[in-house]
Amino acid sequence: MKYIKDQENLNNKRVLLRLDLNVPIKNGIITDETRINKVLPVINFLVKKRSKILVVSHVGRPKGKINKELSLKPVCENLEKKLNKKITLVRGNILELKRNDLFNDSKEQIIFLENIRFFDEEEKNDTNFSKHLSKLADIFVNDAFSCSHRAHASLTKITKFMPSFAGLQFETEINALKKVTTEIKKPICCIIGGSKISTKIGIIKNLIPKFDSIIIVGAMANTILNFLGNPIGKSIKEINCDLIIDNIFKTAQKHSCKIVYPVDVVVGKTLEDRAKIKKLNDVKNDDFILDIGPKTISKIKDIIESSATVLWNGPAGYFENPSFAEGSHQIAKAISKKNKDKSIYSVVGGGDTIALINQIKAIKDFNFVSTAGGAFLEYLEGKELPGIKALN
Ligand code: 3PG
Repeated sequence: MKYIKDQENLNNKRVLLRLDLNVPIKNGIITDETRINKVLPVINFLVKKRSKILVVSHVGRPKGKINKELSLKPVCENLEKKLNKKITLVRGNILELKRNDLFNDSKEQIIFLENIRFFDEEEKNDTNFSKHLSKLADIFVNDAFSCSHRAHASLTKITKFMPSFAGLQFETEINALKKVTTEIKKPICCIIGGSKISTKIGIIKNLIPKFDSIIIVGAMANTILNFLGNPIGKSIKEINCDLIIDNIFKTAQKHSCKIVYPVDVVVGKTLEDRAKIKKLNDVKNDDFILDIGPKTISKIKDIIESSATVLWNGPAGYFENPSFAEGSHQIAKAISKKNKDKSIYSVVGGGDTIALINQIKAIKDFNFVSTAGGAFLEYLEGKELPGIKALN
């Protein structure tokens, strides 16, 4: 893979820069700017090198049709303020756009093409569309790691038609993920939550051979507790998972990986209720398990304390209600404490987990926080991502 940071002579080069600016927009207002902040380094880098930057991105899933609500306009306006630079948004038909139509004003340095998914050729990974895009610039830079699991025209096919490089964020993201998959410093543990064990089975199975412990929390743990014969009341659980769980335990045994799950829980009668700590046997028919209990927290803290690397995806409980946020907060605190004395390398990912650590303003206390949803999970499953393959 070639990296843009190593390239000389970018002066006046036209760079087709693929970004993931798929941010939540409600009534024209961006409600989370994290992804915009993450692209500032690559834009500033190219601006400094005096490149001409042609940004390609998407918002939402317009399915090949123009949808005003999914315009990149609010993102352009936001970036204009952050960069203190004028940005032109080109709205016409990309297929009619010619190289000479762009950057005619010598002062113009950043041009955005409108949402690339307004063209159904994008998701079809269309050859002619990619070829046409490639003619608009000199080189291609992919700084949209979070789209790497999509084989789309502006991410994969385009690399066939122009010199292609990984961007700054792309490189950082891959380096962080390598530290929890291939270039591991042991002992390593993974804390994995979420509601469905079946959606995380690929990750768990891929990580078991390399990890010392896998800690299962959140609603996923209810399915395990139930499988092991514990009462779980009205808690969320997944059905038909016995084979999956059996398989996890057997594979873990084979590879001497410890599977850790709650030994006590916190319940409520509703999501709005107050917390009540319970032993596993004491969970009643009308209880919802909504967090891990203090003994489980202490067990997890001990594992974190003795780990050199940690990967965390998925909160421990229903943290939206502060009564059930203690488990997740304690996990965050234990990791950030070790992070401060540089005795752990930590990678965190997943929308809920990021929301949680944002809630306690701890985002800076982790080595790497991934904003890549699907791409992050598929990478951890050990899949070959088309966006990475194309750059390789
Ligand atoms: C994401 O938000 O994960 C990426 O932008 C990819 O979006 P998609 O799931 O709509 O392809």
